[in-house]
Amino acid sequence: MRVFVTGASGAIGARLVPQLIEAGHEVIGTFMSPSSAKRVRALGAKPVALDLLDARAVRRAVLGAEPEAIVHEATALANARFSRNLDRSFGETNRIRTEGTDALLGAAREAGVRRFVAQSFAPTRYAREGGPVKTEEDPLDPNPPALMRETDAAMRHLDRAVTDAGGIALRYGGFYGAANDGMVEPVRRRQFPIVGDGGGVSSFIHVDDAAAATVLALERGAPGIYNVTDDEPAPVREWLPVLAQALDAKPPRHFPRWLARLFAGEFAVMMGTESRGASNAKAKRELGWTLRYPSWRQGFFAAYGSIEDELEPRSTAQLGEPASLGL
Ligand SMILES: NC(=O)c1ccc[n+]([C@@H]2O[C@H](COP(=O)([O-])OP(=O)(O)OC[C@H]3O[C@@H](n4cnc5c(N)ncnc54)[C@H](OP(=O)(O)O)[C@@H]3O)[C@@H](O)[C@H]2O)c1
Repeated sequence: MRVFVTGASGAIGARLVPQLIEAGHEVIGTFMSPSSAKRVRALGAKPVALDLLDARAVRRAVLGAEPEAIVHEATALANARFSRNLDRSFGETNRIRTEGTDALLGAAREAGVRRFVAQSFAPTRYAREGGPVKTEEDPLDPNPPALMRETDAAMRHLDRAVTDAGGIALRYGGFYGAANDGMVEPVRRRQFPIVGDGGGVSSFIHVDDAAAATVLALERGAPGIYNVTDDEPAPVREWLPVLAQALDAKPPRHFPRWLARLFAGEFAVMMGTESRGASNAKAKRELGWTLRYPSWRQGFFAAYGSIEDELEPRSTAQLGEPASLGL
């Protein structure tokens, strides 16, 4: 297929483009900063400069490229300043997920594009009730913490707009394995604490596995939502010490909830103590997706260190009942 990939120079885009080409697709890859053109070309795609917040430019670029498919992977997180106000940090990304997605869908319709796959997000989005691991059918959090409500609304908008148009929204786990991984420095500096009992469940995905699932979704996915996460959703108290070890950092600090709320805000407390993980069963079953890094237990070490992981991986089924997670 002739595939138009937005955000081709980003953390996931840069892994996806070579896998698409390897699978026999032709790729037109968009970027934002002038310096990224070279990178996109080196990946094997035809580079096209595009600001997704300029709807006319989006229409021009899509009609000009005449793609059969669009994969929408652009965000504006590389230079975002993260603070307790997530909505401020995600401001431009939220616009890319709403206005940018709408512009792309409009252009796709006009250009007769047959397949549309877009980046969404799984962690911290499912309702904080019931079991620790959620499927695509489970309800989203009806009451996200203040200062992340616009961010949550933008992801809901993307999920709905894309699937209503017959496309696929991929709710990726937290990415790791890219050169600009956001968690590395905070964990190295011990700025990422275990909050309370550390029972909040996270879902991760290595960027290579995320890219592989994206190629399969493009080729054979049915319209709808897929969680693209690894086999082992896990509470923060389990994965954070392992990540620190993989990074050769000191073990994480422990913060009581009130202190985390004071320093990092409500989102940090929610993520650290109440968040739910996401099941990848549908993506494995329907896409025939196999993971190179089924668990962060091996993946963190493969991505960040040469130290052999001595911990035995566990399956999702072994995660246990909510009570054993302190949820
Ligand atoms: N699921 C997840 O956990 C998740 C998802 C996304 C990102 N992240 C993390 O966020 C950090 C940054 O990731 P990243 O490098 O992919 O983010 P990024 O720099 O925001 O890049 C994403 C892509 O979107 C492009 N872009 C930025 N603004 C755009 C706009 N207005 N219109 C069109 N395209 C635009 C970028 O182009 P240029 O390269 O030319 O600027 C790039 O190709 C990484 O640590 C990554 O792991 C995590």
